[in-house]
Amino acid sequence: MPSGRQALPAELPGLLVHGAMEIATLAGGVRRGSAQAEIGLLRARDPGAAAGRGGPALAAYEGRIVAVGQLDEVERQLAELGVEEGRVTRIDAAAGTVTPGLVDPHTHLLFAGTRHAEVQLRQLGHGYLEILAAGGGILQTVRETRAASDEQLLGTGRRWLYELLSHGVTTAEVKTGYGLDSATELRLLALAGRLGAEGPVEVIPTFLGAHAVAPEFRDRPDAADAYLATVIDEQLPQVAEQGIARFCDVFCERGVFDQDGSRRLLQAAQNLGLAARLHADEIEPSGGAELAAEIGAFSADHLGAVSAAGIDALARAAESGRPVVATLLPATSFFTLKDRYAPGRTLIERGVPVALGSDFNPGSSPTPNAQLVLSLACLRLGLSPAEALAAATINAAAALGIEESQGSLEIGKHADIVLWEPESHELLPYWLGADLVRTVIKRGRQVYVNRRTDG
Ligand code: NIG
Ligand code: FE
Repeated sequence: MPSGRQALPAELPGLLVHGAMEIATLAGGVRRGSAQAEIGLLRARDPGAAAGRGGPALAAYEGRIVAVGQLDEVERQLAELGVEEGRVTRIDAAAGTVTPGLVDPHTHLLFAGTRHAEVQLRQLGHGYLEILAAGGGILQTVRETRAASDEQLLGTGRRWLYELLSHGVTTAEVKTGYGLDSATELRLLALAGRLGAEGPVEVIPTFLGAHAVAPEFRDRPDAADAYLATVIDEQLPQVAEQGIARFCDVFCERGVFDQDGSRRLLQAAQNLGLAARLHADEIEPSGGAELAAEIGAFSADHLGAVSAAGIDALARAAESGRPVVATLLPATSFFTLKDRYAPGRTLIERGVPVALGSDFNPGSSPTPNAQLVLSLACLRLGLSPAEALAAATINAAAALGIEESQGSLEIGKHADIVLWEPESHELLPYWLGADLVRTVIKRGRQVYVNRRTDG
């Protein structure tokens, strides 16, 4: 159990975080356009003020935020609520930065084996889709995942969830997609549910039976359609019946599933009560962004090769009703040796809400480091530190439909909080690859304390 790895402080129902140089509240809902850079900053005048009574603070009670503001005001509100001092754990942010817990809206966390050999294949010029078409890539992980026991998958799942947590992630979306048959896909969803129930990282499960054409179908002339029919007619109804997934996803890409097939699947999922999200225009323009806008998906993910028409479709969707969140995954472009990255700056300028995710998986993005993702977003997608922080918190929560309860530090929301070592949010993407988390709080409990940065 992750929380068993270290002795954490005894628990009281109340929590008071004080002594911060900055608290980025991210209050005010999903961000787009110029508002993507507005992060609701509360600042201390100087380190003395942070240490004294002039700095920003926040309080939580029984897992929810009850006050945010300057310390004396927060203490007064706690007293008004009748919370006695003896029932409150005080945590000193030590002149660092405080943000909402990061939300990772795109991971493929449940898998067996590694795919390090693909890096060399790519260096020799073999593309991701070429490796997949030859029966490697995702299909290699499918073979190893099918053969793995529940205990093996849970063990590695826990290990990587803990790694996400230690980089500041308090909620992670977890996709299936390395089963590609009913039994294994359902097994992976059940395991995702178990990991979420264990905590402390909250898990949002996504069914990705349409991640690749299953090996059993690949020799048929109608392989993609025939396999998709089993996803729609056999896998999906069982997933919906068991109520074990919140979303349905599909890899909409040339040589995998086309726009028509992806539409059929996602509409069938929506009819059964699952919300839609998709791998859109990751490698080639494939109509994924257009489809996301057409069917009202929560999120269009990747967009590394999105077309001008796809950007237009997302911009139009953003103007009308519930926007499709553009979930960008720069670690994938980096790891797969791409020169071209998703047009983050353009999407923000066109008013599309942008989120960030790790895409953690053994093939295209074996990094659980959400801080590295923030850095790559600034260095390669053209985001500012503030825009990247909004993308990894409130907008990532919106990509998962949980923005009412997570992604910002506002009264009534879950007390999911990260205490960072640097004194400004602008330094979070700057210290490239460094371990900057001090403490992670989930639903008001300290669930991770970094012994290296602590004290
Ligand atoms: O988002 N492209 C599809 N799925 C993953 C990669 C999964 C894998 O290669 O195992 C992605 O990049
Ligand atoms: Fe992915």
